[in-house]
Parts: sequence; structure tokens; C-alpha cells
Amino acid sequence: MSGRHNAPRPVIICGNWKMNTTPLDAAMLANDIAGATDVPGVTRVICPPFICLQAVVTALADTDVAVGVQNIHAEPFGAYTGEVSAPMVAQLASWAIIGHSERRRDQGEDDALVGRKLLRCAEFGLRPILCVGEQIDDRQAGRAEATVRRQLERTLNEIERVAARLPEDLVIAYEPVWAIGTGLTARGSDASAMAQLIRDTLAAAGVAAKASHVPVLYGGSVTSAAIDEFLAEPEIDGALVGGASLKVDEMAGIVARAGITAAARQAA
Ligand code: PGA
Repeated sequence: MSGRHNAPRPVIICGNWKMNTTPLDAAMLANDIAGATDVPGVTRVICPPFICLQAVVTALADTDVAVGVQNIHAEPFGAYTGEVSAPMVAQLASWAIIGHSERRRDQGEDDALVGRKLLRCAEFGLRPILCVGEQIDDRQAGRAEATVRRQLERTLNEIERVAARLPEDLVIAYEPVWAIGTGLTARGSDASAMAQLIRDTLAAAGVAAKASHVPVLYGGSVTSAAIDEFLAEPEIDGALVGGASLKVDEMAGIVARAGITAAARQAA
């Protein structure tokens, strides 16, 4: 926890639907998830594909489930065929996943680009979830922590280069790449150590006052069965959920477990 004298960090469960659902079934799924996860104290976010955004926003209008996007372009407007920018989605969404490993892998996004996307989030009122995480080779070679620290430092350097500040409401998701969509999960203790390293890196970069308040989520094959391992760790503030976020029962179990952590933090 961030310390006895501070307000507890929020508990956040964010579903990343990736390239799944169509507008019609997205609305139904969002509605069903909202109904099955109405647990006090848990911040719920659903990130559908862009094309499903309006349908999901409408479906969730009477709920307190927030809607996010899975990416934004680094520029606000311009000649970027097929792209979607922060001001375009800001009227619909309030959160944005930035630097997901699938985009780093498939679109070649690097840490500097990710830094500029974070700044767009701040500019247009989107709360960013910055994804970091090591490859399996890094972990096997004992380089996992150095890799994550380097990702963060490069992103922070880019923000400093353009003389801007890290968004105040930043959330970080630690997602070991080898755990995403594989059914493998990190150990809770390793995820906790990484959350501590992330906060230490932010503090060392001069965002010390805020570093202890930055929520750190775990992501990578989170299910209703696996979530306890992570939420048992005081350094972990929730989860970024891929595959299981498409299943109502799974989300119900995950958010129910998150509710226990949220209640315990409020009572502490
Ligand atoms: P997964 O995806 O839960 O399907 O492993 C997590 C993510 O990519 O955020």
C-alpha cells in the first residue's frame, strides 16, 4: 500500500477485448458484464474495439462502468489513413490502453512513441494505462527488471525531451509478454517485485511525490482462478484482463475478488 497516511490506491479491473466482438454483440456483452460485476469499490473499465465503442457506451450509459480504447494515434489529426486519434474518441471513451505488447510487436511501437501517446491522453482527457513487460528471454536471462526499467525510462525520457510532464492519472500495467494469452501467469511475488520496481523507477525519475499513488495492474492470463495470486499482493492494484474479459462469468469472479481487496483497503 502507499502508506497509512495516504488514501488507499483504487482497485481497477480493465477488460481488453482486443480484436473481438461486433457492435451488436459488444453491446450485449457489455450489458451482461456490467450487471454481473456491480461490486462496491472496484473501478471497472471495458476497452472494446473502436468500431464497437459507440454501442458499448450506449449499453453502459446507466452504469458506472467506464469505457476505454485499446490504442490512440500519437498525433491528434492529419494524413494518417485508417488511424484513430485521442480527440476523436475523447467524447466516447475516458480511458486508453497505451503501448500494449501486441502493438509493440505488430506495429513496431517503441517507448518514445508510447511516451507521445501518453501525452495525447493527458491533452484530451483520457486516463492512460501504460503497458510494460519483459519477453521470456529477458526473464530467463535474469533481465526482466532491467527490461521493464528501461522501457519506463525511455518513455519518461521522451516526455522530458518534449518538455512535458507525465500524466497525473497514469496507471501502469505490468504484463510479462510470455504470460499474455498463453495460460501462463507470473508469480504473485514476481509481479509484486515488479510493481515496486516500477514505482521506484518513477520516483528516481523525479515523480517521487506521485510514484506511490500510481496504480499498478497485473496482466497476462488473468482468470477468476488466477486473480487471487495477484490481489493478495498489496503492491498490485488490479488487473488488465484479455481473454477472460470476454466471458461474463469470468469477469464476475474477477471483480468479486477485487471487491474483497477494495473493501479491505477501505477498512485499513
Ligand atoms: P490475456 O491478455 O488476459 O488474454 O493474457 C492480457 C492482455 O493482453 O492485456
